[in-house]
Amino acid sequence: MKVSGIANANIALTKYWGKKNPELKTPYNSSTSVTLEGLQTTTTVEFDEKYTEDIFILDGDEYKTGEGEYDNVHEQLDLIRAKAGIEQKAKVVSKNDFPTAAGFASSASGLAALTFVAAKAAGLDSSVEELSKISRMGSGSASRSLIDGFAIWHKGEQEDGEDSFAEQIAPVEHWPEFRILGCVISKEAKKVKSRAGMKQSVATSPIFEQWYTNAEKDAQKMVELVKAKDFEELGNLAQNNCILMHACAMTTRPPVIYWTDGTMQVIHRVLELQDEGMKAYFTIDGGPQVKVICLEEDVPKLKDELTKLNMVHEIIECKPGHGPRVIEEHLF
Ligand code: DP6
Repeated sequence: MKVSGIANANIALTKYWGKKNPELKTPYNSSTSVTLEGLQTTTTVEFDEKYTEDIFILDGDEYKTGEGEYDNVHEQLDLIRAKAGIEQKAKVVSKNDFPTAAGFASSASGLAALTFVAAKAAGLDSSVEELSKISRMGSGSASRSLIDGFAIWHKGEQEDGEDSFAEQIAPVEHWPEFRILGCVISKEAKKVKSRAGMKQSVATSPIFEQWYTNAEKDAQKMVELVKAKDFEELGNLAQNNCILMHACAMTTRPPVIYWTDGTMQVIHRVLELQDEGMKAYFTIDGGPQVKVICLEEDVPKLKDELTKLNMVHEIIECKPGHGPRVIEEHLF
């Protein structure tokens, strides 16, 4: 059967940085996020006898065995085949509909779309919880892209990872005026991949334990703040959590430093605006781009201020988005 679908990216409000069980891809701490409308991956999957090996094409380029992207997809398909009890190979075609060189491209929407669509194509009737767990195996942050609106990915307590999945905190309709302004700093982010960076942090950062102990508390607190729509507290908590994650990354050996001059320029401007009473807060993932958390009413003023910064190339406005869905048009 051939199935197509779409999944959105998400941005962590409190971060995930470190796998406790690298095989099961379970994290040291829970993390929270908001799914972002329009930063999406579209994927078509077909399992069929006619394929002698898995085929993976992303944005028009075909990837082969030994290339990271291919191996990730292949492993994810193996997981789904095992669950569905099928052996057919698959053809997977994906495209990322990110605005021009957003620098947002994350594995989250890709792995969430692949998992959602491939499970359906394999005939599985999996719950969101189950799909979140399977997505987690492909990429940790992808577990959160299965969720509509605001999500918490529970770190889980069980040895088998069965209680480590994402769950909804609140739907899109709970807070439609919530906004993320993605400030594109660099289009060619030369970076250490999150996966490699966090592995080194677990092994070498002297503040790793403080990081994840604190991050667990932050995630639980974030759930309350989202539910209460306490924007100021939420922004401050997200910002502080981001700084601590990067402190952990920076104190890794060799250092993992994602911030560039442009990143610092936005950070300082956001802090100045905060001093002037503006409710805007920054958060940053594994790259130089800064995401500014704000409310709809402040978007025009903030866009005005941030576009004045010479190191900001582009600003992308994102609203809370929905979980994955099936679409009728196939990519092949
Ligand atoms: C900094 O989910 O990309 O964006 O599980 O190894 O695929 P893997 O890592 P990934 O890491 C995301 C790290 C982060 C923070 C976050 O999204 O929580």
